[in-house]
Amino acid sequence: MSLSPRFLDELRSRVTLSDIVGQSVRLTRAGREYKGCCPFHKEKTPSFTVNNDKQFYHCFGCGAHGDAIGFLMQDKGQSFIEAVENLAARAGMEVPKATPQERQKEEKRKGLHQLMDAATVFMQDQLESPENRDVMTYMTGRGFSADILSAFRVGYAPADGQAIRKYLKAEGFDDAQMIEAGVLRTSQKGGEPYAFFRDRVMFPVTDKRGRVVAFGGRILPENIRPPAQGDFTPPKYINSSDTALFHKGRMLYGEALARQAAYEGHTILVVEGYLDVMACYQAGIRGAVAPLGTALTEDQIASLWTMGHLDEEKNPVLCFDGDNAGRRAAARAVERILPLLKPGKSVRLAFLPEGEDPDTYIKNKGRDGFVQILKTAIPLHRFIWEEQTEGRDFSTPESRAGLAETLEKIATQIGDRAVQNYYRQAFRDKLWEAFRYSTKQKSGGRGGASQPNIALKKPVAGQHKNAVRLERILATLINHPAQILEFEEQLSVLNEGAENYLELLHEMMEFAGEVSEKDLDTRNLKDHLNANGYGQLLEALSKETMYIHAPYARPKCEAHDVAEGLQDLFDRMAEERLLAEVGQAGRKMSAEFGEDAQERLLEMRKLLGGGSSS
Ligand code: UTP
Ligand code: MN
Repeated sequence: MSLSPRFLDELRSRVTLSDIVGQSVRLTRAGREYKGCCPFHKEKTPSFTVNNDKQFYHCFGCGAHGDAIGFLMQDKGQSFIEAVENLAARAGMEVPKATPQERQKEEKRKGLHQLMDAATVFMQDQLESPENRDVMTYMTGRGFSADILSAFRVGYAPADGQAIRKYLKAEGFDDAQMIEAGVLRTSQKGGEPYAFFRDRVMFPVTDKRGRVVAFGGRILPENIRPPAQGDFTPPKYINSSDTALFHKGRMLYGEALARQAAYEGHTILVVEGYLDVMACYQAGIRGAVAPLGTALTEDQIASLWTMGHLDEEKNPVLCFDGDNAGRRAAARAVERILPLLKPGKSVRLAFLPEGEDPDTYIKNKGRDGFVQILKTAIPLHRFIWEEQTEGRDFSTPESRAGLAETLEKIATQIGDRAVQNYYRQAFRDKLWEAFRYSTKQKSGGRGGASQPNIALKKPVAGQHKNAVRLERILATLINHPAQILEFEEQLSVLNEGAENYLELLHEMMEFAGEVSEKDLDTRNLKDHLNANGYGQLLEALSKETMYIHAPYARPKCEAHDVAEGLQDLFDRMAEERLLAEVGQAGRKMSAEFGEDAQERLLEMRKLLGGGSSS
């Protein structure tokens, strides 16, 4: 139904926006505007404003912006028409009646909706019927509870191609409607129309509001009902083709339930198939959706971002298989997403172990296991960086320039100007971080004139940096265990970084202390660590990407360069510690103006001066 701009303007001017918004947000007056905490992202200080004169709301925190209609759509999950009808009722206005053609179309749609619902009921009854107990046993045998099957309205389409036709006819629908809804197909041989789905487990696909608009049908496994088609292997799934109600590329399986869940704070999760969505839901992970047998489309991506109150850390997670095909699928999805990125709107990516889908993974590892996987979801920019660098060699300037060029090309694909610029900046930072060390090593000596000592110029938040340094140190020591003894003193005071890495370090030091010098080699060390349950950490530390940042950690690196690399790490840490202390002493001095503080400060300045000019 199309509404005239004049009608909509009138509607907007007749309602008071702050009244509408005020129903879900506590607003306080601030000059000509109202202020409150934004309902669309997490915040403690109000950056959400409502301007009644201009008839819009705007959030300076997350950029959410819109009018009264938009607010009801975004905040309450209403459709455009629902929002308009709601506001019209408040404003005492009549929503204009559609033209006769429009009304006819609307009627037809209503009829189709009823038909699809009746078809669903029929299929659900079929699944419950004792005649098809083996089908039900198959589904429950796969771990799906009766509750889940009924929440998703799973059904069974019988092999008899006339069964549903008879049923729907008795319910008052005619052949033409059934064909239009995609439930029947016309016979090529001039016979009676017959059921499109036969002898399949049926998954109704609903629209945003939960109305059934299409079906997906899964074949039964051979051991239950061998397909009778002779040599022809029927596809595992068949899906409704597009109809007046259904546009495959715009809908997501599970969307209605996921929308609800998102409003309750669940994260949206994109998985591959019908059964994955159901398995997630059953495990309490209620924000799962799946595209319908195709790769994610632009429309589907856009609709992911309209679900729930998205804030940055709630950006949807796309879940892929961990094998090469999964990485490739992820890369293709990323290509489609880049042009669509908006400030605050992105996706994260999570990878399952090879050969697993969420359904099997939840079955094997339980809900908690799967939640762990979701926790490893990486932001988009990091995925891109890893894709472009993992397992590749960047020892030549040419290869580095090539990488920079590729990253630049990727950034250019981003449609939004601001996001594009920040991506550029993030890539530049990464490149710099990855290569500054190795460049410096080649130019010889630490802190040479060509390499400004950033640690001194710009004190950095040490925590994270030191955690990363710990990883590099460990990676180096695994490949060069003799250095454990060389650096024993510095190693023994390390106390920043992940708990398990610190544990690993202590295990390594203990081992180095126990074995003879002759036995202190990589193979023995690795065997020992593997035997003590550090296998996964070892693997993480031996990734090729580690060496991009820490070339001295490479197994083949000469002992002399290894030692220099490690020494450099320790120096940086010491410098930063000292800097932090200088800051502290300075603050203390200005607070107390004590003599001690002043003296200590001078002392340290001297030390620093000496360190930076070497
Ligand atoms: P999968 O083959 O991974 O199936 O296809 P599945 O969902 O894990 O089902 P089970 O566990 O083997 O029973 C993933 C999704 O791809 C689409 C369906 O949407 C399916 O859920 N698909 C697959 C098709 O549309 N057609 C096909 O022939 C196969
Ligand atoms: Mn599966």
